[in-house]
Amino acid sequence: MKDKDYSKYFKTPSVKQARKRTFTEVSKEEYGVPTHLKDIAKGKKYKIQTYGCQANEADSENIKGILETLGYSETEDEAMADFILLNTCAIRENAENRVFGELGRLKKYKRHNPDLLLGISGCMPQEEKVVNKLLKSYPYVDLVFGTHNIDKLPTYIETALFNKERVVEVFSEEGRVVENMPRKRNHPYKAWVNIMYGCDEFCTYCIVPYTRGTERSRSPEDIIEEVKYLKDEGYKEVTLLGQNVNAYGRDFKHKPYSFANLLEELALTGIERIRFQTSHPNDFDEASVQMIGKYDNLMPHIHLPVQSGSDEVLKRMNRKYTKQRIFDLVDQMRTHIPGVSITTDLIVGFPGESEAHFEDTLDMVKKVGFEGAFTFIFSPREGTPAANFEDPTPVEEKRKRLAHLNEIINEGFAKGHKRFEGEIVKVLIEGESKNNSEVLAGYSEHFKVVNVRGDKSLIGKIVPVKVTNAKTWFLEGELVESTR
Ligand code: SAH
Ligand code: SF4
Ligand code: F3S
Repeated sequence: MKDKDYSKYFKTPSVKQARKRTFTEVSKEEYGVPTHLKDIAKGKKYKIQTYGCQANEADSENIKGILETLGYSETEDEAMADFILLNTCAIRENAENRVFGELGRLKKYKRHNPDLLLGISGCMPQEEKVVNKLLKSYPYVDLVFGTHNIDKLPTYIETALFNKERVVEVFSEEGRVVENMPRKRNHPYKAWVNIMYGCDEFCTYCIVPYTRGTERSRSPEDIIEEVKYLKDEGYKEVTLLGQNVNAYGRDFKHKPYSFANLLEELALTGIERIRFQTSHPNDFDEASVQMIGKYDNLMPHIHLPVQSGSDEVLKRMNRKYTKQRIFDLVDQMRTHIPGVSITTDLIVGFPGESEAHFEDTLDMVKKVGFEGAFTFIFSPREGTPAANFEDPTPVEEKRKRLAHLNEIINEGFAKGHKRFEGEIVKVLIEGESKNNSEVLAGYSEHFKVVNVRGDKSLIGKIVPVKVTNAKTWFLEGELVESTR
């Protein structure tokens, strides 16, 4: 690949610039592939590796959709691929290290196939230090783009394929919500539905507000139309996506419309299951809690990241709530949504977290009775405030805290399963169990994995299952008579 004159394509990011919110109102754009680019990659194959959260999984579905309109088809075999893309996550350092390791490993395929395009997209390229490193140490990466310019992929591919020029373009400014991008969904019964993009919370440890830009909500009409379409296509479940779904609609200038309003309108579409992710305890209002209790198709599982149980740590994290607020919110949830299952995210070893602060977290976890959690050791992210906070706790101590926390969380997992023993639960059968093709697996309404023996014709259906045995990580059950 030529290297000398690619700078005209350069638009590199800046974490500092990304902090400045220039955005005023959503400008909606309809997507279209320029006609001369349709089928430019006919006969070629692509492989995408996706890292990170559901926002990235949803983006990868759009990227696949776009690539297929260019004529590419998907392959799982990287040796066969003409384009390999890593759609990356920047949330913690080890996530980034894995990607750099992958780039090193994939280099050999360029030797076998000099026409292979190697690309990197997603949250990592939104950081200038990553782009600088790619430019300096990974000259064989052909294509670099970020989270704000997926729709420009056809032109990037054209440049890389025909001009043999390296393409690096990453915007630090957001502002567009592009509708109707083609999409190749990964699953035939469950679908991601973006309801908003970006995040304005600026938790002091988190890179997402810089990599994903300011909060912008899709219009209720577009979301409702998408959910109705999915229902007509036979989808049983949608998961509404946003970094802080409870802030949905906050950016609408002319119409007051909240997450609770959206939940209600979507419940009335009649799609069988609606989930959402992720919630922020500060913005979760009682109206939304009540709404979830009101409609049977709003699922009784809430992923509520609390991060810490210490008021002091929460304050330094800029989470804007206290431990008491969590207790009150959880009470509200238990009142309006009987039997609700609540899971969370927790960070240990935040700068300055003392043993006593950590004990506060353990205390909260025990009192709330979370039925699952993703737990992380704090990872400093360059450009975020917490990366400069004093952090005297040795890493071995942080690891010990994490192990201790995980023990308590696993008890919560087990208890959350145990309470369903002997009960009948409704399961959306997704496919064969990973370890045994005789067994089917799916999720219950409370988001518990359920394994059950049954005919493959049940895949894609919601069936009643009597739970016979609760394990720590999943439930075992039997089909209830009438569905055999
Ligand atoms: N918007 C969501 C998800 C953000 S990322 C939310 O607010 O919960 C998912 C999780 O990663 C976070 O909940 C947090 O627990 C964790 N996380 C984010 N930044 C981190 C960092 N710098 N170090 C360790 N964990 C982090
Ligand atoms: Fe990150 Fe906080 Fe936004 Fe979640 S709410 S994405 S943790 S800044
Ligand atoms: Fe990772 Fe970006 Fe999601 S940093 S967690 S992929 S928003």
